[in-house]
Amino acid sequence: MAQLWGGRFTKETDQLVYNFNASISFDKKFYRQDIEGSMAHVKMLAKQNILTEDEKNQILAGLEGILKDVEAGTLVITDEYEDIHSFVEANLIDRIGDAGKKLHTGRSRNDQVALDMKLYTRHEITETNTLLKRLLEVILAIMEDNTETYMPGFTHLQKAQPITLAHHMGAYFEMFKRDRQRLDDIYKRLNYCPLGSGALAGTTYPLDRDYTAQLLDFDGPTLNSMDSVADRDYVIELLSALSTIMMHLSRFSEEIIIWNSNEYRFVEIDDAYSTGSSIMPQKKNPDIAELVRGKTGRVYGALMSILTTMKGIPLAYNKDMQEDKELTFDAIDTVKGCVALFTGMLETLKFHKDVMQESAMKGFTNATDAADYLVNHGVPFRDAHAIIGRLVLYCIEQDKAIDELSLDELKAISPVFEQDVFEAVSLETCVNKRMTIGAPGPKAMREVIRINKEYLKKEASNPLKTTK
Ligand code: ARG
Repeated sequence: MAQLWGGRFTKETDQLVYNFNASISFDKKFYRQDIEGSMAHVKMLAKQNILTEDEKNQILAGLEGILKDVEAGTLVITDEYEDIHSFVEANLIDRIGDAGKKLHTGRSRNDQVALDMKLYTRHEITETNTLLKRLLEVILAIMEDNTETYMPGFTHLQKAQPITLAHHMGAYFEMFKRDRQRLDDIYKRLNYCPLGSGALAGTTYPLDRDYTAQLLDFDGPTLNSMDSVADRDYVIELLSALSTIMMHLSRFSEEIIIWNSNEYRFVEIDDAYSTGSSIMPQKKNPDIAELVRGKTGRVYGALMSILTTMKGIPLAYNKDMQEDKELTFDAIDTVKGCVALFTGMLETLKFHKDVMQESAMKGFTNATDAADYLVNHGVPFRDAHAIIGRLVLYCIEQDKAIDELSLDELKAISPVFEQDVFEAVSLETCVNKRMTIGAPGPKAMREVIRINKEYLKKEASNPLKTTK
């Protein structure tokens, strides 16, 4: 047991208590951020003449050595330390002796862990954002290729009106674009540095908090030391944004599973992203899409967990907050993994465009347009609705699409129909006529694609800052 705080105690901590309390098994994940924060702290202490230049240089060299050795695998972070902060400090003292004992001057583990968590989540926000950008690029490429690939649009999972594959994909583009914007917002709001807040009430040392904030690429220091050590809003916001990403991925997965089914056959998932059955040789299962859909639960769980943990905590720091880490780490890793895999699956997905088109033709998706045709020829909409209802019934009996009927058959249902009805209810016309921005008409779609291309280009030249 290696603890930083033995002085006041006369008895050893019970081993079970020690294990229960320790966080090293999971907070070792942010060793890099812990060292980076310590380096900034030490530079500031020297600038303020709280440490000498020599002490600063010794400490910085020691910290760099620890970082290098951990990365090289020659220094292993073991469970004999209580947490990552103790591990780094103890190692530093081993390496450089007394100067190492000055590292923690004017700092508490409370502001230290608040800083580490912010640095870590900030970095992961940037990573997630980059992965989402890649997904958006794949979606946009499918959109560009399919502005005239007709398919049924659904409501209640019933065929409703004809759309295009580009239009359907475009809906997901907007969702993941909003997801990225949400992450950007969280980044901006969290980007204030808690270092220098001490345990809860600041410190008596003349720290320069602006300087450490600047060194660590924050927009400034946080403005209330109690809030600084007790705030996990950004974790809640992040888990909420991650939950929304999973919800979007899950809906998309669900559609791909349906489209990939034997009944639909709209798509075929690539062999590399499918799995077989141990007993049924004919099976090719969409396990990746199902797993993405399934993993949504654990990310939602993380959000519920942190909301519940935080709800009754009095100011300022309390140990409950140590519970923020494992679930956040797990949620971040889950989302990153899911976005990356989903992107690969989508990129290799084969679209059976003929089946989609056939489905739109056979599904009476042009029934609204047929009613509109009658309206345009003077029939009141309510009457037109009833006439087309009878027409659909007739088509079902004859097992034909509306545009497969003869003009005589159509006229038998309503004399208003003329030869031009075939043109009016063709899939092309139904889609092309929907030209307002946001609608599936190819002209409108091409404008949306142009706007979204611009968006991706702008994003490339303006990436979020990232921790080194
Ligand atoms: N492991 C702790 C956490 O994750 C670090 C802060 C400890 N502070 C304290 N006063 N015990 O929250």
